[in-house]
Amino acid sequence: MTGGVKAGGAGSAASANSDSRGLIDIHQVTKSYFSGGVETRVLFGIDLLVPHGDFLAVMGQSGSGKSTLMNILGCLDQASGGTYKLNGVDTLSLSRNELATIRNRTIGFVFQSFNLIKRMSVAENVALPLIYAGVSRDKAYKKALVELEKVGLQDYAKRMPNQLSGGQQQRVAIARALVGDPPLILADEPTGNLDTQTSVEIMRSLQQLNAERGITILLVTHEPDIAAYSKRLVRLKDGHVLYDGPAAEGLRQLALSHEAAAAQPAS
Ligand SMILES: Nc1ncnc2c1ncn2[C@@H]1O[C@H](COP(=O)(O)OP(=O)(O)OP(=O)(O)O)[C@@H](O)[C@H]1O
Ligand SMILES: [Mg+2]
Repeated sequence: MTGGVKAGGAGSAASANSDSRGLIDIHQVTKSYFSGGVETRVLFGIDLLVPHGDFLAVMGQSGSGKSTLMNILGCLDQASGGTYKLNGVDTLSLSRNELATIRNRTIGFVFQSFNLIKRMSVAENVALPLIYAGVSRDKAYKKALVELEKVGLQDYAKRMPNQLSGGQQQRVAIARALVGDPPLILADEPTGNLDTQTSVEIMRSLQQLNAERGITILLVTHEPDIAAYSKRLVRLKDGHVLYDGPAAEGLRQLALSHEAAAAQPAS
């Protein structure tokens, strides 16, 4: 063990199989898409080192490559070049099955549109990743109730997803992401479909998970007010890292660049 867990990030889930290079370690990652024989280059040599316990927001204009990067980090897609170590494991050397195993063990996903299964109750939705992982229904359901309690929704276990508000549905999705005790949450615009007040509640929940359980969180957002809940900010521009550092400083620079753009005389 390296003692690399940051202050406030003392969660036991985060320490499994860690090495000194952090939970996520990507080096010179590139991504191109090919269609009709034409190459579209989307990521141009991204370096990113995320230690256990970090809370990182990724920002950038539409099309800058945020989701592409998140899909690679989530082992949902593979980089065209570069290296990616997840929790000390070189992902490029893994078979499809091995990749699925490390993904299930290491990462909980939260999506903009919640992605709950409509025909299943709240608790069944939360239990599902455990059932896929071979846990018995009984045990999975019990663990789902524990996880629902942590997000304050224990009384909603038997409801159907469409009987919940958007914020409640997103908290169910967070409980589902955490039911297998992964050290990492990846969230692509988790507040994108929520009003401001509900977005604040979701961000506070994520902040709490980070501070109290040491869960490492990477989220994509377009909103500076949402990114302000994170410790660290990465800004992408056209597939390059424009900024990587403390969130407060990055957001200050972003606000200044917006002001400068607004002050440009119209031509
Ligand atoms: N499967 C694909 N095939 C071809 N091009 C793609 C594919 N997925 C994404 N792209 C292109 O890659 C670029 C980056 O897309 P990406 O979805 O990563 O952007 P983003 O930063 O997440 O944008 P947004 O803020 O709109 O969600 C875009 O130009 C997009 O058109
Ligand atoms: Mg996107």
